[in-house]
Amino acid sequence: MAQVFSFRIPQALHFGSGVYRQLPALVRARATGRILLLTDPGVAAAGIAPQVAEALAAAGCAVARYEHISPEPHLDEVERCRSFAARQDVAAVVGVGGGSVLDAAKIVSGFAACAQPLGDFVDRESNGFGPGLPLFLLPTTAGSGAEATAGAIVTHDNRKSRLVGRYAEPIAVLVDPTFTRSLPAGVTLASGLDALTHAIESYAARRASPMSRLYSREAFRLCLSFLPRVIENGDDMRARGKMAQAALYAGIAVANAGAGAVHALAYPLAGRVRIAHGIGNAILLPHVLERNVAASPDAYAGLLEEDGTPLETPCGSGALLDSLRGFLATLQTPARLSDFGISARDVPALAAEAYGIRRLLDNNARRFGVSEIEALFRAAL
Ligand SMILES: [Fe+2]
Repeated sequence: MAQVFSFRIPQALHFGSGVYRQLPALVRARATGRILLLTDPGVAAAGIAPQVAEALAAAGCAVARYEHISPEPHLDEVERCRSFAARQDVAAVVGVGGGSVLDAAKIVSGFAACAQPLGDFVDRESNGFGPGLPLFLLPTTAGSGAEATAGAIVTHDNRKSRLVGRYAEPIAVLVDPTFTRSLPAGVTLASGLDALTHAIESYAARRASPMSRLYSREAFRLCLSFLPRVIENGDDMRARGKMAQAALYAGIAVANAGAGAVHALAYPLAGRVRIAHGIGNAILLPHVLERNVAASPDAYAGLLEEDGTPLETPCGSGALLDSLRGFLATLQTPARLSDFGISARDVPALAAEAYGIRRLLDNNARRFGVSEIEALFRAAL
């Protein structure tokens, strides 16, 4: 019997070099007042946010710039930005940046009409006030896929928490790969590994559908082919374009199928040590995969192709694990949590926190108890 599934995708996607120039017309069609341009200091310094601001100004839009969103932003920071937006009486929100900026933009837009503190809505299943302000998202890294997902991740009470605003769906997403050209190699690697993890986790997720798997599989294929190339040469704009596409596809896959245990275990790391989200994912990924494959041998079958032929047999998942280990080693990805100061003493608290992230663990191909999660962290030390 056919599987019942639903699928969502941003209502308008614009992709390609220089596509940001379409933004002013899109914004003017939806808003006549002042526009909030939300970004972070790095994207501002790289000249990308000023470039977008100039394009908006040239089209007659009044722009209020806010450049103070930091990586893994605390909820208080986003709250300050929301106050700024209210004081400026903005009519639309444009987010230009990595996942942190895009998530902040979603929150500012989705909760603009709400007077309550944002802290009241953290980790609630259904929340948000609407209608929000028209939202436009322009990613500047190729990784988070935040341009395609509805939720927003923020730091709250020293842990990664989630806010979901029903009205935070963007009017348009504009993916301009030229924005990723100036990314340092470290950020390119970490964000690319996040996209790779989204592709793999969403493929085997319990909520995966035949349609989400199309996006997972293509994102995975693109990451394998083009992540090494952008690491080797950041000016390879064809490879940059392919990785921007991979991140978008992986974001669409994860927006529909969800992520799994790798993300559940990676989030508590970020609250304790300075480790890029994508690097934490990459360290944990082979360990989670190994256990998923042991319990469910065909969980990833069909994800990896060999000579153009999908491996539909159980051995396909084992081949995936071997290929992944080799791929991560080639990229010289850090492989141990102890490289980031995590020790055996930290494991019980990390495991307890990870075990509480039910939306991710319950979506994983196999169930993990607390003791299994502890063993998983210890294996990755
Ligand atoms: Fe992620």
